[in-house]
Amino acid sequence: MTSSDVARKPYDSDREETKGLLSEDIHEESWKADEELEDRGWPRKRIVGVAAAFIGLLITGVFARTFLLDSPTHPNLLFHGHDVLRSNGTHDFKRTVLIVSIDGLRADYLDRGLTPHLLDISKQGLRAKALVPIFPTLTFPNHWALMTGLYAESHGIVGNNFWDPKTRSEFHYNQIKSAWEPSWWLGEPMWETAGKSGIITANLMWPGPPKTTSGAAASYFVPWKDKVPLKEKLDQLIAWIDLPFDERPQLLMAYEPSLDQAGHKAGPMSALVNKTLTQVDVFAKDLHTALVARNLTEIVDVVFVSDHGMTDTSHPELIYMDDILGNEYDKIEHEDGWPAMGLRFSADANVTHCLELLHAAAAASSGKFHVFTHETMPTRFHFTQHERIAPIYVVPQIGYVLTSEAEGDVGMSKGNHGYDNTAAEMHAMFVAHGPFSQVVKLLHSQRRSLLTRPNKGWHSTSDDTYVMDPFENVQVYSLVMRLLGVDAVAPTNGSAAFWDKYF
Ligand SMILES: *[C@@H]1O[C@H](CO)[C@@H](O)[C@H](O)[C@H]1NC(C)=O
Ligand SMILES: *[C@@H]1O[C@H](CO)[C@@H](O)[C@H](O)[C@H]1NC(C)=O
Ligand SMILES: *[C@@H]1O[C@H](CO)[C@@H](O)[C@H](O)[C@H]1NC(C)=O
Ligand SMILES: *[C@@H]1O[C@H](CO)[C@@H](O)[C@H](O)[C@H]1NC(C)=O
Ligand SMILES: *[C@@H]1O[C@H](CO)[C@@H](O)[C@H](O)[C@H]1NC(C)=O
Ligand SMILES: [Zn+2]
Repeated sequence: MTSSDVARKPYDSDREETKGLLSEDIHEESWKADEELEDRGWPRKRIVGVAAAFIGLLITGVFARTFLLDSPTHPNLLFHGHDVLRSNGTHDFKRTVLIVSIDGLRADYLDRGLTPHLLDISKQGLRAKALVPIFPTLTFPNHWALMTGLYAESHGIVGNNFWDPKTRSEFHYNQIKSAWEPSWWLGEPMWETAGKSGIITANLMWPGPPKTTSGAAASYFVPWKDKVPLKEKLDQLIAWIDLPFDERPQLLMAYEPSLDQAGHKAGPMSALVNKTLTQVDVFAKDLHTALVARNLTEIVDVVFVSDHGMTDTSHPELIYMDDILGNEYDKIEHEDGWPAMGLRFSADANVTHCLELLHAAAAASSGKFHVFTHETMPTRFHFTQHERIAPIYVVPQIGYVLTSEAEGDVGMSKGNHGYDNTAAEMHAMFVAHGPFSQVVKLLHSQRRSLLTRPNKGWHSTSDDTYVMDPFENVQVYSLVMRLLGVDAVAPTNGSAAFWDKYF
């Protein structure tokens, strides 16, 4: 390693997600920071640790489902506004939404025959062929897009690690001092919007800050911790749902990283991914069973999403940046992101010359990688309008990896993401179940008879499943707000009308 390598990559773990999501040493710190935050909360009611005592689950065999499909009344008309109450038979509930992110669940993983429960849930509810991530297809940019409905250029998290020329500081997703600094995180996350409407919210490890610049925080917050068993996460979610009416959150967000970690470690086709897929599927079933046992399937909307997919990188073709740039390679001052690479050169570099070298090499590679400036960046990336986005971006195609002669393929993972968001392998999942999905099915069955447009051409579905066309994850914020009955929403990059036909 040359000294310039060291300067650019002060932390090995900045190789983004080649190693798990966050390094081990963050844990102690995060729990300490949690205590510090306790007296600073905004609408924070209570901070509940995962280690809190859990209420034992009594899962009964009583499945008293009534299908809204049988009802001639549009169910959402019966349950409008966020303060309207519904009874599950014994307790009053407000509208409740649970959004769960399974990191790195590639859209087509659901077709492996390994996720019978998620498919069953989607058959009772709905799924999309794919949820299209924002560019770059990385964890932090996409989890924040899901929370805010904004593209990276508008929400400010333009990579998992990047340089901000304005503040002359670097964002590190895996360092709490950096990642928990509110000023990095622009836009309004759904828990902030909901909180403004008086809604109690609960955040179980969703990637992002505990607080935004306005001081907003989720009412309940469990900070990131690695290797927390899914059973504990389930218990925490259910403990929140079982809270007394005045303390019970209406918006619950939960995050699970194990599938992404498996994908990086062993690759998307590995036995490890298949095994982990089975585990998250059982988690989905257990969650559903717990809701059924509480007669809550027509009260709680559950939305399963993921942030991006995964591609096999066990035998990549390496592209050597130092061979391309020659002497200028050492003048790279900041290198953002991975596997795409944002470049900032030092003042003594001839940037025009560097660009010429990069463009020539890209042209000679016939499509192995592309070089973009803010002027030539594809519009569909929505990735120019922020000073945090490096002026030169090198974006490899799937199958190719940018590196240097010195680094080679050392420490490279067997699976990765971060590539072009139009690539199918980068696509994420969307599965929903609850009162909302019943409405969609109702509308769909009506439309199907009207337009004779059955769900043909999508192999994994039964006739009974409503499969939405792929849509962008910046639409999810608006969906959750509408499910909660919140009208005072922040501007997003979703289209205002996108969900109209379902409400
Ligand atoms: C379940 O909830 C519905 C309303 O969502 C209610 O009509 C029904 O009586 C409840 N069933 C039981 C067993 O309490
Ligand atoms: C994982 O599942 C996929 C799809 O069913 C299959 O093609 C692949 O061979 C499996 N991997 C292993 C190692 O069994
Ligand atoms: C309604 O929900 C509460 C709180 O989760 C639960 O204790 C109760 O058993 C549920 N009632 C029914 C009829 O399932
Ligand atoms: C920078 O590179 C360009 C293009 O190769 C060249 O025309 C120009 O003379 C260089 N400028 C300096 C100051 O070396
Ligand atoms: C995305 O939304 C933000 C906030 O409204 C807006 O400033 C930005 O121009 C939008 N971007 C696009 C591409 O429409
Ligand atoms: Zn991820």
